[in-house]
Amino acid sequence: MEIRKVVIPVAGWGTRSIPASKNIPKEMLPIYDKPVIQYVVEEAVMAGIRDVVFVTSQNKKLVEDHFDYNPQLEAVLERAGKTALLEKVHHVAEMITVMSVRQKRQLGLGHAVLCARGIVGHDDAFAATVGDDLMFGGDAGLPQLVETARKHNLPCIGVMEVPADKVNRYGIAMGKEIEPGLFRVENLVEKPAVGTVDSRLAIVGRYVLTPDIFDHLEKVKPGVGGEIQLTDALAMLARERGMLAVKMHGIRFDAGDWVDYLAANVYFGLRDPKIHDELQRRIRELLNN
Ligand code: G1P
Repeated sequence: MEIRKVVIPVAGWGTRSIPASKNIPKEMLPIYDKPVIQYVVEEAVMAGIRDVVFVTSQNKKLVEDHFDYNPQLEAVLERAGKTALLEKVHHVAEMITVMSVRQKRQLGLGHAVLCARGIVGHDDAFAATVGDDLMFGGDAGLPQLVETARKHNLPCIGVMEVPADKVNRYGIAMGKEIEPGLFRVENLVEKPAVGTVDSRLAIVGRYVLTPDIFDHLEKVKPGVGGEIQLTDALAMLARERGMLAVKMHGIRFDAGDWVDYLAANVYFGLRDPKIHDELQRRIRELLNN
């Protein structure tokens, strides 16, 4: 199974992050020293994927610009002899091949993925990941998913167990565990009401899909929230082709949730030896206040 491209929908308004995201794409909000989208892209690169298809809207030019050169800034850094910073800028600019397609109306995650059909084509499997869901630790996220998809030659979704009272925030997968942490998907339901499903396996925005998903996306009717739901098309794909759900390792941060966003900032700050001690001291100070 060849997986060369990743589709990353970034067209959403980011209403959960207003006012911070009023004029800046939510994907460009920083977590420590990088914008959210850079972490998402780095995860794809770790999985060996360098062709990135952003599904964008009118106000998302900055997302594409982030992965491009910035000649003015580079000239300033060069004149000032700031070679380490210059290297950082070049590293980001050279990280991926950027492709993009407009999602002209925001009709849901499934619709966003469908917009990428022309770029993805119909030959190869591809990965998809949501633009504000971060995963860290070892091979967590796409590397883990891509490896499983290649091994079993099947579409795969990343899942994590969530508390029973939170199933209504996610797509929920149901299926049989065939190996520890690996499930054959039997059904999927988008945001079921609490108490209506037995499973607590939540989709965490990581997918390896085969191009026939597009035919299913063409067919699905608007679902939860009146949106074209990727989960509804996944349920069809699971029935027709088969699908695996892979329990993801690692820690997940939902960058659109303020507690997770702040926790992610602290997590990355604490991992940097340059600021670890000082940050820890300040956090202790704040906790004792
Ligand atoms: C989307 C998907 C949902 C998935 C979630 C993960 O929902 O529709 O199936 O569980 O991402 O973050 P959203 O968070 O966009 O409402």
